[in-house]
Amino acid sequence: MPEAPDGPRGPEDAARTALEAALGPGDQASVGASPGRVTLIGDHIDYVGGRVACMAIDLGLAVSVRRSRDGHWRAAGLGTCVQRDAPEMAGDVGDRLFAAAVALQRRGVEVPPLEMAVTGDLPASAGLSSSAAVVTAAVVAILRLQHLWVTAEDLVGVALAAERDVAGVPCGELDQRALVHSRGGSVLILDCAAHDRWRVVWPWPRISLLVVASGERHDVGGGEYRSLRRAAEGACTALGVAACQEIGDRWEELSPDLRPAGRHIATETRRTDQAVGALRAADPAALGRLMNESHLSLRRDCGASTRLLDSMVAAARGVRGCHGARLTGAGFGGSIIALVERPAAAACAAAVAAAGATGGAWLVHPSDGLEVTAPDAVHQ
Ligand code: GLA
Repeated sequence: MPEAPDGPRGPEDAARTALEAALGPGDQASVGASPGRVTLIGDHIDYVGGRVACMAIDLGLAVSVRRSRDGHWRAAGLGTCVQRDAPEMAGDVGDRLFAAAVALQRRGVEVPPLEMAVTGDLPASAGLSSSAAVVTAAVVAILRLQHLWVTAEDLVGVALAAERDVAGVPCGELDQRALVHSRGGSVLILDCAAHDRWRVVWPWPRISLLVVASGERHDVGGGEYRSLRRAAEGACTALGVAACQEIGDRWEELSPDLRPAGRHIATETRRTDQAVGALRAADPAALGRLMNESHLSLRRDCGASTRLLDSMVAAARGVRGCHGARLTGAGFGGSIIALVERPAAAACAAAVAAAGATGGAWLVHPSDGLEVTAPDAVHQ
């Protein structure tokens, strides 16, 4: 079973090379690198103040940035190159890269016209946070180019502003915070009501997460994500609570149209807390059961699964040595994760591929989030 090939900083040189290969020689480039992330449990509750267990993984990407010599903005990635007179959104590979530049400009950072390229082994549109990784790595690369430094919290803020206010994606804060605050060997717990976080050690040397991408593209900017978010917010408003952690069993009082959303956000928050207990007790069977229940909730109450994702989790669970499986991230396509005994990983990946997954499989490990500081800035 192939392990995830390099750490998140592995693709840095490749990003410089990709920039030259796509856009020709130019000025000296700066690079920012970011891992991807998986949600262990706690999906579709970050935007209503839920608790999420997540981690950066050892699949990543890097963004390489240099000044444009002729005033045009250019971006390369996913096998295409685009050029614009200004860093506007156009529904292509340039959007997230340019959104990072615009968000920084709106914060008063002087950003000249840029040429940018993205490369790495993190699959795009696979529910592993590639969009947030592109934005976040681009912010760091641009700041490095300008010899500027940013704190972790500011980086989260700029990356979120780029997604929401520039690219127009109504995401929660899970992805950006997971990419920035994760540390190797641990699961990051985000409290999205208190904007607090803590970590729990990954307790098993011989149990890992298997990520399998369905091959179905997922898009947080799409209508399904928006309407799910609206229903969750509607459930909180109807019950007069500020965050879903306060709902408890009161979801039963909701009108039939809001009840499924209310039940998901109430039960998923509880499952995250129970998952923390399972990690602390090093009880893989308990964590696996919670992952299975989470998938059911995302399918039944959120409609966030697909027929293929359901077949994939069923196939994974059928393999001896798999403790549980669920979709990870927003759903509507993307990837599943399975909690597997390492010797069972190859059989599990093969079973999930036989169920129709075509996007690739990786055994991943809890990894460091992206490096925030600009090492060259300290010499200025
Ligand atoms: C996407 C969003 C996150 C979160 C997840 C679902 O990844 O960007 O904010 O809502 O979906 O948990």
